[in-house]
Amino acid sequence: MRRLRFHHLLAVPVLLLAAAVVQECAAQGGASAGGDHAPLVSPLAKDPATSLYTISIKDGAGPLVVDLAGPLVWSACASGHPTFPCGSAECDAANCWHQQGRPWHQDYGAGAEVDGGDRFCACTARPCDPVTRDRCAPGDLTTFAMSANATDGRNALHPVAFQAVGACAPDQLLRSRSLPAGTEGVAGFGRAPLSLPAQLAARRGFGRRFALCLPGVAIFGDTPIYLGYYPPDLMTTIASTPLAASPKSGGYYLPVEAISVSWPNWNAPTARAALPPGALELDAATGRGGVTLSTVQRYTAMRSDVYRAFVRAFNETISTPGYVKPMPAVAPFELCYDTFSLRRVRVLGWDVPSIRLELGAGASMNWTVASGNSMVQAADRTLCLAVVEMGPGAAHGAAVVIGGYQVEDNLLVFDEDKEVLHFSGLLWGSGATCSGFNFTAPQ
Ligand SMILES: *[C@@H]1O[C@H](CO)[C@@H](O)[C@H](O)[C@H]1NC(C)=O
Ligand SMILES: *[C@@H]1O[C@H](CO)[C@@H](O)[C@H](O)[C@H]1NC(C)=O
Ligand SMILES: *[C@@H]1O[C@H](CO)[C@@H](O)[C@H](O)[C@H]1NC(C)=O
Ligand SMILES: *[C@@H]1O[C@H](CO)[C@@H](O)[C@H](O)[C@H]1NC(C)=O
Repeated sequence: MRRLRFHHLLAVPVLLLAAAVVQECAAQGGASAGGDHAPLVSPLAKDPATSLYTISIKDGAGPLVVDLAGPLVWSACASGHPTFPCGSAECDAANCWHQQGRPWHQDYGAGAEVDGGDRFCACTARPCDPVTRDRCAPGDLTTFAMSANATDGRNALHPVAFQAVGACAPDQLLRSRSLPAGTEGVAGFGRAPLSLPAQLAARRGFGRRFALCLPGVAIFGDTPIYLGYYPPDLMTTIASTPLAASPKSGGYYLPVEAISVSWPNWNAPTARAALPPGALELDAATGRGGVTLSTVQRYTAMRSDVYRAFVRAFNETISTPGYVKPMPAVAPFELCYDTFSLRRVRVLGWDVPSIRLELGAGASMNWTVASGNSMVQAADRTLCLAVVEMGPGAAHGAAVVIGGYQVEDNLLVFDEDKEVLHFSGLLWGSGATCSGFNFTAPQ
């Protein structure tokens, strides 16, 4: 049994948080919190070597990798860090998916361990490598000092300090080559009581809502959002769709029913990918299938049956006018085209077919993926469709994992209270950009 090192000064505020968090885990109840309810804003950045996105939120430390489907915060700990007893509410929160018979740890490693059933031992959680998902290791559950700025959706207003519960990063994970140099762990944004947005929502009582605009900014709480020179509150203008949850992962799923490809501004028929029936459905019992979003996967990955049908539809559509010249494939991509045979369009990138994710009932619009998010220049004169085929035994078991490249410069607002995703599509040309948040405080 490990020695108890619970720090009593932390006990009161942290237990308040944990009570709200545990209630949420059991009953999805709205948490209440006193004091400052202002939403918070943090800058995001993109690591050029790994293309992972990071958030600067932990005090006196490097940034943390943003893992949209991750259940936990984990980071480096100093020796003498506080711990939680195994019987504590925080330990239960780290463990609650497990207790509900949802073996999340098989995918994501959120299960906490209880040493020999002793309720006063030190609680550990099991963080996992966010990219490979397969390397997991135990680390003490502890608290981290963090800060972000309060915001009215327009400016950063004043700094706010807070504590977040998370796991100490086991050495083998911190040294993992998956993590960018200079980062010090991971901030999980998934559906779990100890994810960063869930803890902030419980602590500040501002609703279980957060916005990601990669690679520029994350905003926590229910607020209007102003980015750049586009004057209106973006929340009043962007589209929305119902969200779905999987019983087996902490991810956010979209009700995509079909994928189609068509030339914008060109009077050609729309080609719909000839998917097997139910190919995109999320199986509510097993958690397999479905279309989900990831910030740790670079490019959208599709299960083989979906990928083949989609690639055929795209290639047929782009070949129809007869002037687009194929180029040899550049791994990991398969469909590449000669930029000399394509026209550049002023704002949105290249004149190529756009991809439409056809959404189910309740969506205000289908999701159009413009060329700025669908094509990547992979070599000289070579523009490739930025989608890859999933390997066999892919970790998620999803039919489609929409990758970070496909949602850069898109505003995404996840509202777990309403189970709705607000999405802007590519912001280029609107006057708003993900790097346009005004971090200067008004005088
Ligand atoms: C808050 O914003 C100010 C600029 O207004 C910035 O200097 C400071 O670093 C920010 N604090 C945090 C914790 O992000
Ligand atoms: C794409 O279409 C072209 C022209 O029809 C064809 O030559 C090529 O083999 C197709 N590529 C793939 C990967 O299907
Ligand atoms: C999405 O596209 C399909 C096929 O074109 C169409 O039937 C449906 O009405 C669209 N949905 C919305 C919300 O526009
Ligand atoms: C950012 O906000 C400050 C304070 O309100 C304002 O003075 C400044 O003009 C704004 N900057 C931009 C680029 O809008």
